[in-house]
Amino acid sequence: MTFAQIGFGYWGPNLARNLGALAGQRFRYLVDLSPERREKAASLYPHVTITDDLDAALADVESVIIATPAATHAPLARKALEAGKNVFVEKPLALSTSDAVELASLSETLNKVLMVGHTFEFNPAVRAMKEILDAGDIGDVLYLHSQRLNLGRIQSDINAFWSIGPHDVSIANYLLGASPQWVSARGARYLNSSVEDVMFVTAGYPGGVLAHMHVSWLDPSKTRRTTVVGSKKMLVYDDMDADARLKIFDKGADRLDADAYGAYQYRLRDGAMHVPSLPMVEPLSTELRHFIECVDSGARPVVDGWNGVRTVAVLEAVDESLRQGGAQVDVLQVDGA
Ligand SMILES: NC(=O)c1ccc[n+]([C@@H]2O[C@H](COP(=O)([O-])OP(=O)(O)OC[C@H]3O[C@@H](n4cnc5c(N)ncnc54)[C@H](O)[C@@H]3O)[C@@H](O)[C@H]2O)c1
Repeated sequence: MTFAQIGFGYWGPNLARNLGALAGQRFRYLVDLSPERREKAASLYPHVTITDDLDAALADVESVIIATPAATHAPLARKALEAGKNVFVEKPLALSTSDAVELASLSETLNKVLMVGHTFEFNPAVRAMKEILDAGDIGDVLYLHSQRLNLGRIQSDINAFWSIGPHDVSIANYLLGASPQWVSARGARYLNSSVEDVMFVTAGYPGGVLAHMHVSWLDPSKTRRTTVVGSKKMLVYDDMDADARLKIFDKGADRLDADAYGAYQYRLRDGAMHVPSLPMVEPLSTELRHFIECVDSGARPVVDGWNGVRTVAVLEAVDESLRQGGAQVDVLQVDGA
């Protein structure tokens, strides 16, 4: 199986580096419309054909990796699938649920692999959190909150939630094994009059679990943190803390019997903090290796097109809530595989 990558801008070089390491000579084409980016790619990948001619690449490879701006994902993925290619597409899968559903369905009809770049589902800390949750170690999940903040990279084509929020939605959906039933979103356009730079999104998951997601590219501190509060323990995943990316806190509030007046008392538990050791692997490498294995074996990726659809459905509901000034908006529930 041979591969072409489309898009070599800010993120594309990270994919190309891993694709080069994993696929070697099977990495055949790198397609970008920008002469400057093609020149940069040519200096790094002399054995790869660097071109702006997508049709030539599609005629010669079996699989493509798409790392272009979000608005191009659906048309490029559709073109590649219709040409009979397996497709890895960066998040978000599409800019509308209907486009995303069409792509997921097309990949099934044509029996081609469609995988979406939800990188954090391959992150060792996030996978460790999922194991801890599934084992019941933290009790019932009560709520979670995440912050994905930085000064930059400021975008003008999509708002901050479409840009970086897909990571938090995919992490929450993955950890909870469900899609939210509703969302409520507020945001503000401080830098650019057409897209929100700062957003606060609340998502309601089954069983009354709340997820609050704060994203911004106008913040003084680079923050990448997800906190999960359970009835027995609490988890903090801080991607900026290289020494302790994941912390497990034996903390909680236990309800005691009601007193003579019927009022409940609480005993606060402030126990030990444990830092599990995590494998030192680059999530992007694990992610691309999985895509290559699926392409080689025909297996369904763990982050398949329907997973991408469920994330896009949340993003679309967030847009609608923004338009309605923060109203609670139902999230379309999609029953794909
Ligand atoms: N998984 C992650 O952690 C992560 C991180 C950053 C970005 N991304 C995703 O990567 C994608 C690219 O983001 P970016 O920040 O690199 O964007 P970018 O604008 O820096 O780069 C996009 C590149 O695609 C090229 N391009 C645009 N349209 C094209 C077309 N039709 N055919 C060929 N080339 C085309 C542009 O010339 C440019 O070089 C986005 O979908 C983004 O969401 C993912």
